Amino acid sequence: MDDEPQQPTLTTLRLVLRPFTLADAPQVQLLAGAFEVADTTLHIPHPYPDGLAESWIARHADEFRSRTAVTYAITTRETGELCGAISLSISQQHQRAEMGYWLGVDYWNRGYTTEAAGALLAYGFTSLNMHRVQAGHYGRNPASGRVMQKIGMCYEGTRREFLRKGERFEDIVLYGLLRSEWPSL
Ligand SMILES: CC(C)(COP(=O)(O)OP(=O)(O)OC[C@H]1O[C@@H](n2cnc3c(N)ncnc32)[C@H](O)[C@@H]1OP(=O)(O)O)[C@@H](O)C(=O)NCCC(=O)NCCS
Repeated sequence: MDDEPQQPTLTTLRLVLRPFTLADAPQVQLLAGAFEVADTTLHIPHPYPDGLAESWIARHADEFRSRTAVTYAITTRETGELCGAISLSISQQHQRAEMGYWLGVDYWNRGYTTEAAGALLAYGFTSLNMHRVQAGHYGRNPASGRVMQKIGMCYEGTRREFLRKGERFEDIVLYGLLRSEWPSL
């Protein structure tokens, strides 16, 4: 599937969401390498190994081409600095996408993730024609839950001790939004 050859840049009030390039790898390793970022994400290892950022970024173009995932670098409009990442993992069969995101610790609590997530939600429902967008966070990560609430997602339940992270079992709090419920429709 390739009805849109290039992954478009998405612009919000304060942010530019753009595809990653290999030149971003050192900053990705620095930001995602913080314990606080790895601690509440499922797929980010700690310590963050050399080469992982490069191989992660290298996958994005193929994933976009096949519409299995769309990943964006979150950058500021003012300075262009890279703050974090946000993505949709897509099931075409179900017209459903799972949103994930992380932000460098120095950028937390400025509303950046909420702003980026709102833009990506719009892109998912309009350009990608998703029927449903969902997300989930660890029970001990209420900031991520606030992001989901602030973009209009509905609480759909909690899977208790659903995932094992190191030695602990984590509750996963589930949120979702149907296109018919999306406020901008
Ligand atoms: C979760 C994360 C992406 C949030 O990013 P952010 O840009 O700081 O989010 P925003 O500023 O848009 O919104 C954060 C909200 O959480 C609130 N918040 C922050 N810490 C909180 C806490 N301990 N308890 C409750 N709410 C909290 C903020 O006050 C804000 O809500 P408000 O606008 O109603 O005041 C960021 O903390 C992060 O990258 N964490 C590590 C990786 C991660 O957990 N990713 C998500 C996996 S599901």
